Amino acid sequence: MNNAQWIINGNPKGRALMAEDFLKQSAELPDLGDGEVRVKVELLSFDPSQKGQMENIGYAAATEFGQVMRASGIGEVIESRAERLSVGTKVMGSLGWQQYATLPAHQLEPLSEGVPVSAHLGPLGATGLTAYFGLLRVGKPLAGDTVLVSGAAGATGSIVGQLAKLSGCRVVGIAGGPEKCAWLINELGFDAAIDYKNDRVKSAIREACPNGVNVFFDNVGGSILNDALACIALNARVVICGGISRYQEAVLPAGPANYFNLVFQRASMLGFLVSDYAAEFPVARARLAAWLESGSLLYKEDVQEGFDQIPATLQRVFDGANFGKQLLRLD
Ligand SMILES: NC(=O)c1ccc[n+]([C@@H]2O[C@H](COP(=O)([O-])OP(=O)(O)OC[C@H]3O[C@@H](n4cnc5c(N)ncnc54)[C@H](OP(=O)(O)O)[C@@H]3O)[C@@H](O)[C@H]2O)c1
Repeated sequence: MNNAQWIINGNPKGRALMAEDFLKQSAELPDLGDGEVRVKVELLSFDPSQKGQMENIGYAAATEFGQVMRASGIGEVIESRAERLSVGTKVMGSLGWQQYATLPAHQLEPLSEGVPVSAHLGPLGATGLTAYFGLLRVGKPLAGDTVLVSGAAGATGSIVGQLAKLSGCRVVGIAGGPEKCAWLINELGFDAAIDYKNDRVKSAIREACPNGVNVFFDNVGGSILNDALACIALNARVVICGGISRYQEAVLPAGPANYFNLVFQRASMLGFLVSDYAAEFPVARARLAAWLESGSLLYKEDVQEGFDQIPATLQRVFDGANFGKQLLRLD
C-alpha cells in the first residue's frame, strides 16, 4: 500500500511559507516491527512552532530536507503488533503530514473518553496545556488582577483568557478584527477586547485597564508587547509565550523601547516552554477536561479539509485566517 506524504523542501527563515517549501511524495508503507502500530491519520493540528522547527531554531529535534513534516494528530490504529494498542483504538501523537503513520506504540496515547475527539488537539492538547502552565505557573494570577492577553482569539489565547476568568480576574483580550473581538466578549466572557488592527492599542489598553495590567500573557511580541509594557502595574508578570509578529520577519526589531518600565514597576518578564511541565500534564489535562465537561471552558475550531490543503493550512495561523484552533481533516 502507498502512503501519500508531505516532506520538507525549504527553510522559511525570515519569510512567509511558500508552496515550494513542501513536496508531495508517495512512499511504500514499511512492514510493521515488533511493538509497532500503523495509524490511519484522521485529524492534524497546526501550530506556529512547526515553521520554527523547519528553521531549526533550537527548541525541538533538528529537521532536515526530505523528512516528513512533523505534526501532532489523531488517528485510528489499523494494524498492530503491540499488545498495548489494538486495532480500532483512537490515538494521538506525532503522526506527521501523511496518510498513514507507522511508529512504536509507546509513542502514542489512547484518547480519553467522554470528551470530543478533536479536543485532544486543542484544549486538552499542547494548546490547552500551554495556556494552563503559562498563565497559572508563570503569570501567577491572583483574584482581582487585571490580565491582558494578546493573540486572544487564537487557540492558546482564548483558553488563557477563560482560565484567567476562572481565577477571578478581570480579562482584556487583544485580537485582530471586530468579529474576533465580539466573540471574546459575547461568547467567552472577556471584560473588554481591543482590535489591534483598528484601535490605538496603547490608549485602548489604558482605557480598558485603568489600574494597570497585573499579568500580560503575550503570544505576539513586537509593538503589542511594547504597548503593553507601557501599561503594566506594580509587580506585574509579563509572560512570554510566543512572538508570532516576528516569525516571518527577515530583520528582527530592536528590543521593546518600553522594557525599562519593568524597573519602575518592579515587574518580571519570563518566557517558558510548555514541555517544561511535561511531568504534570496528566493533572492539568484532568482539570481542563473537568472545566470542559462543566461548560466553564469553551473552545472554537477551524477545520480545513483534504490532504492537498495541508501546507496552505499552516500558513493560515500566520495570516490570522484561523478563527479558533487550526485543524485539518484528511480526506
Ligand atoms: N511557549 C510555548 O511553549 C508555546 C506553545 C504553543 C504555542 N506557543 C505560541 O503561542 C502563540 C499562539 O499559538 P496558537 O497555536 O494558539 O495559534 P493561534 O493563536 O490559534 O493562531 C495564531 C494567531 O496569531 C495572530 N497573529 C498572527 N500574526 C500576527 C501579528 N503580526 N500580530 C498580531 N497577531 C498576529 C492571529 O490572530 P489575529 O487574527 O488576532 O491577528 C492568529 O490567529 C504563538 O506565538 C505560538 O508560538 C508557545
